[in-house]
Amino acid sequence: MSDTYAKRRLRLTQQMGSGIAIIPNAPEMRRNGDADYPYRFDSSFYYLTGFPEPESVLVLVSGDAPQSILFCREKDIEREIWDGYRHGPEAAREHFGFDSAHPISELDQQLALLMENQEAVYYPMGADAGWDQRMLRLREEVQKKTRSGVRAPDEMRDVRALINEMRLFKDAHEIALMRRAAAISASAHRRAMQFVRAGAYEYEVEAELLHEFCRNGARHPAYTSIVAGGANACVLHYVANDAKLKKSDLLLIDAGCEYRGYASDITRTFPVGGKFTGAKKDVYEIVLAAQLEAIRAAMPGNSWDDPHQAALRVLIQGFMDLRLCKGTVDSILEDGSYKKYYMHRTGHWLGMDVHDVGEYKSDEKWRSLEPGMVLTVEPGCYIRPADDVPRALWNIGIRIEDDVAITGSGHEVLTDGAPKTVRDIEELMGKP
Ligand code: GLY
Ligand code: MN
Ligand code: MN
Repeated sequence: MSDTYAKRRLRLTQQMGSGIAIIPNAPEMRRNGDADYPYRFDSSFYYLTGFPEPESVLVLVSGDAPQSILFCREKDIEREIWDGYRHGPEAAREHFGFDSAHPISELDQQLALLMENQEAVYYPMGADAGWDQRMLRLREEVQKKTRSGVRAPDEMRDVRALINEMRLFKDAHEIALMRRAAAISASAHRRAMQFVRAGAYEYEVEAELLHEFCRNGARHPAYTSIVAGGANACVLHYVANDAKLKKSDLLLIDAGCEYRGYASDITRTFPVGGKFTGAKKDVYEIVLAAQLEAIRAAMPGNSWDDPHQAALRVLIQGFMDLRLCKGTVDSILEDGSYKKYYMHRTGHWLGMDVHDVGEYKSDEKWRSLEPGMVLTVEPGCYIRPADDVPRALWNIGIRIEDDVAITGSGHEVLTDGAPKTVRDIEELMGKP
């Protein structure tokens, strides 16, 4: 496995020209008092190293003999009694396949030497003010040595442009991890459907999801779970999750686990009472039809925007049928009146981050979908009370979201373990 990371580092170095890249891991974050947030590595750092410890920095030097150098915490038996094992530079070098490794305390001194005579410094520019200052200060130090014939780097560049493009295309190993993350999350959604009942609180359903994630080795959700009953589903980022559910409510759950650094992102909407009825069923069928049409458009060679446009056309026809919008599909697309009920886009890249890195446009045009890209497909409909809205539709909020990997010949829906047709959901919920 360390070979995979070494190959990624080499590929990055080969794209750099003459330069040095500095990629810091994420800092530990204080939550309150003496309690920290659970530590989460920086995705790009981990993508290039597989090294899990905080207080670490990767340095890559390009050229004829490219070097890959890790700076990390030293062994410290006293601290290890309290906080657990640390590799220390020597074991880290050996285990993770770096050319060399040094204590993190030596970082500035070594960087000032490594920057000498390089043309460019690549780092996550603008991501952190402290790092911006540090890079300028170190460059200044090298600059002071010009009289002794040393050249300071002329250029500072954002290393993320290169890494993000690499991360956008998932290899077979990454797809396998995402498949597993998706399967765990799908199983959590099935469990929520079987658990839910009138009188339960949203947080009780959330507890079912989290338990299913954790017991499968996915200790953390990829983002805060949305468990939104009834009108709460019309709040796009609802995370209070503290309301009591009624039999007549639809329940919207947007929840996905992170598994070994990879996110999943699933939304399902289903009736607390176990049966879709009336206007809620009508709206559900429209959103589902839009989602299926959008998934059909997620094909290699199609543009990033095609699934969104496909979903919009179905949704808009539905909004006309429900008397929410007036005009023709084209006129409503043009005037944007559909945005009152569908105000977000139909998806985003998915990977180590839930809203993953990667450009959506190239040369000002939506880019093409290519094998290895993974995206979500998540149309919805959110109807708030208003005088011009039929009363039966008030407070209906529905979204259906799957994770889709683009393949050579089409696509793979990673999350199809979570039921979404009316029949499949009702059947699962009706099981004893
Ligand atoms: N759960 C975040 C999103 O769907 O984009
Ligand atoms: Mn999403
Ligand atoms: Mn989501």
